[in-house]
Amino acid sequence: MGFLYSQFLVTPKYPTESFAGQIIIVTGSNVGLGREAARHFSLLAVRHIASGEKAKQSIEESTGRTGVSFAERASKLPRIDVLLENAGIATRIFSLAENHERTITVNVISTFMLGLLLLPKLKATAKEIPTAKPHWTIVSSGVHAWTNLPEWKSSNTFEALDDEKNARMEVRYPTSKLLEVLVVREIAPRLADSGVILNMLNPGLCHSELAREEGWGLWFMKLVLARTTEVGSRTLVAAATVGDESHGAYMTDGKVNNAALGAFVTSEDGEKAQKKVWTELKGILEKIQPGTTSSF
Ligand SMILES: NC(=O)c1ccc[n+]([C@@H]2O[C@H](COP(=O)([O-])OP(=O)(O)OC[C@H]3O[C@@H](n4cnc5c(N)ncnc54)[C@H](OP(=O)(O)O)[C@@H]3O)[C@@H](O)[C@H]2O)c1
Repeated sequence: MGFLYSQFLVTPKYPTESFAGQIIIVTGSNVGLGREAARHFSLLAVRHIASGEKAKQSIEESTGRTGVSFAERASKLPRIDVLLENAGIATRIFSLAENHERTITVNVISTFMLGLLLLPKLKATAKEIPTAKPHWTIVSSGVHAWTNLPEWKSSNTFEALDDEKNARMEVRYPTSKLLEVLVVREIAPRLADSGVILNMLNPGLCHSELAREEGWGLWFMKLVLARTTEVGSRTLVAAATVGDESHGAYMTDGKVNNAALGAFVTSEDGEKAQKKVWTELKGILEKIQPGTTSSF
């Protein structure tokens, strides 16, 4: 009911804040919600600068390694006011990228890799520029509530997710979005005194290029229910401008609303899973780039 209410009756407010003088990074801003959010910010941080480069896209480009070199360049910026991590994929086709199932690599590992690599710059911005309120914002989804992540009970969650034979690809995208929620909740308290606001959001069902493989069912559902990409993107901008009350929190319809989190997230098991997946993710990130997780 909450979903239908939001889709039919709630229109997130048009952003009016000024971002003059700020440096804002929006990942995945060549199409979809990222592009519309970037239009609002009037800034772009596209992965493919020249359109011809799109053809060169490869699995290797889409991994943590790209994130590392991008982060190296971005960390030389004089300030970062907003890191809006929007890039994501939804697929039911199992494939590996950088040793992990691709959805997990793109939506989870690369997202936190880039965020943690840029955290020192976000923290420095908060410390050195009195008027700045840096935001590290992650675009999650309401579908995080569609799974209870049974894999967390295996000896290693990420290894279980990488096991093609047992992969539940029908809920892989929700699984990746749940992992984002769990990790944000686990690490946010460590940033409490940093001056950096870490939050996450659900844009609602929106028109975009996402889930292009899903077929007529989703196409029809979007036709009836989906927000335009521009309206959806307002929720991204809202999360990138909201105050301290959003730290560690989940936003939906452009407002902080932890009550909209899936029941698993706040359950006893969810809290245990949260700690376990963070410990495991830390290991993966440190293996890719030693020191990544030492910036708290
Ligand atoms: N649309 C919805 O209904 C909806 C609902 C809830 C949450 N979301 C979330 O919103 C975010 C944006 O999705 P969207 O709906 O706007 O989808 P989209 O139109 O498919 O846009 C996804 C963006 O992510 C980029 N991207 C994908 N893989 C990447 C990689 N490996 N490295 C760097 N960039 C990559 C894409 O760039 P390329 O074009 O270069 O691949 C594109 O710019 C996602 O995190 C999604 O989970 C969407």
